[in-house]
Amino acid sequence: MKILVVLIFAVYSVTSLYPFSEEGKLQLHLFSYNKEYDMEEYYHRLQIFIENKRRIDYHNEGNHTFTMGLNQFSDLTFAEFRKYFLLTEPQNCSATKGSHVSSNGPYPDSVDWRKKGHYVTAVKNQGPCGSCWTFSTTGCLESVTAIATGKLLQLSEQQLVDCAQAFNNHGCNGGLPSQAFEYIKYNKGIMTEDDYPYTAHDDTCKFKTDLAAAFVKDVVNITKYDEMGMLDAVARFNPVSLAYEVTSDFMHYDGGVYTSMECHNTTDTVNHAVLAVGYGEEKGTPYWIVKNSWGSSWGMKGYFFIERGKNMCGLAACSSYPLPVL
Ligand SMILES: *[C@@H]1O[C@H](CO)[C@@H](O)[C@H](O)[C@H]1NC(C)=O
Ligand SMILES: *[C@@H]1O[C@H](CO)[C@@H](O)[C@H](O)[C@H]1NC(C)=O
Ligand SMILES: *[C@@H]1O[C@H](CO)[C@@H](O)[C@H](O)[C@H]1NC(C)=O
Ligand SMILES: *[C@@H]1O[C@H](CO)[C@@H](O)[C@H](O)[C@H]1NC(C)=O
Repeated sequence: MKILVVLIFAVYSVTSLYPFSEEGKLQLHLFSYNKEYDMEEYYHRLQIFIENKRRIDYHNEGNHTFTMGLNQFSDLTFAEFRKYFLLTEPQNCSATKGSHVSSNGPYPDSVDWRKKGHYVTAVKNQGPCGSCWTFSTTGCLESVTAIATGKLLQLSEQQLVDCAQAFNNHGCNGGLPSQAFEYIKYNKGIMTEDDYPYTAHDDTCKFKTDLAAAFVKDVVNITKYDEMGMLDAVARFNPVSLAYEVTSDFMHYDGGVYTSMECHNTTDTVNHAVLAVGYGEEKGTPYWIVKNSWGSSWGMKGYFFIERGKNMCGLAACSSYPLPVL
């Protein structure tokens, strides 16, 4: 009798919490992302989670080129998300005249550096630190170096967080790939992830010259808003670092080609740096294939597609790549 009651209770709690109610979903969510809250905070988070879930469901009922879904950010408001994960101040990104020289094509219909060889490292996770720009930088230099030497190394984001201040970079408070490439060039190298591991907070510089593992000969900026220049570079040479504006709809991105009416498209509003590793087209909508730094469970295994050809969210505002030292 007692067992039956317990059993009925167990079935009741499972069906009442998982997976039907929003509260059950929040509990699953907290469990799967290893988050713990006290009672008061829990009910506060529950309200935010329910609001986010509503927005996601509403979006997914509509006719959009991308879907939204629950992820590690679903119990945060966009204001919180922005504070922890994005660049909160405008960066100096405006290569009015870049040094990338485009060819006249023709270009392949699609390119994916992940499939061309061993050129792209696994998706990493920046954690709660505005260090996206360091991941965009290492991602690009890792690929550029691998394409040139055949060796795919994991490079140190933490070195850039700790050491690149003289080039207008500010650790967990932001920076730009172009400025980080300049730093690596003048610093004469960057260490590996193993030798200088990521901690997700600002610290003192621990660079050791004799452990430098990858180098930058020169920095190539692509002229502001020249999205065809980016395509030329990705098609002919290597993945390209870019920045764009993340707005609240992007926080819930799950899959498909992201496009937004919410974001701006100018240099002064970009707040996130990432890496274009290719491009393609889906049902008539051209897109970029982009590597993010929010872990491999976010988006499409850590990647997203964003509409190409319209400077969507300012993605062509400040793109760059380094030339390797051979
Ligand atoms: C969905 O949107 C696409 C492109 O905007 C349009 O071509 C299509 O007709 C729409 N489908 C529905 C069912 O509204
Ligand atoms: C932009 O550049 C100016 C001049 O070099 C500098 O003082 C300022 O701190 C830079 N802004 C950022 C966000 O790095
Ligand atoms: C590229 O842009 C950065 C700013 O984002 C600037 O400091 C640097 O001088 C530029 N490099 C070249 C080669 O134009
Ligand atoms: C930004 O978007 C507006 C409105 O769609 C457009 O008129 C403008 O040309 C775009 N600017 C840039 C730099 O892409």
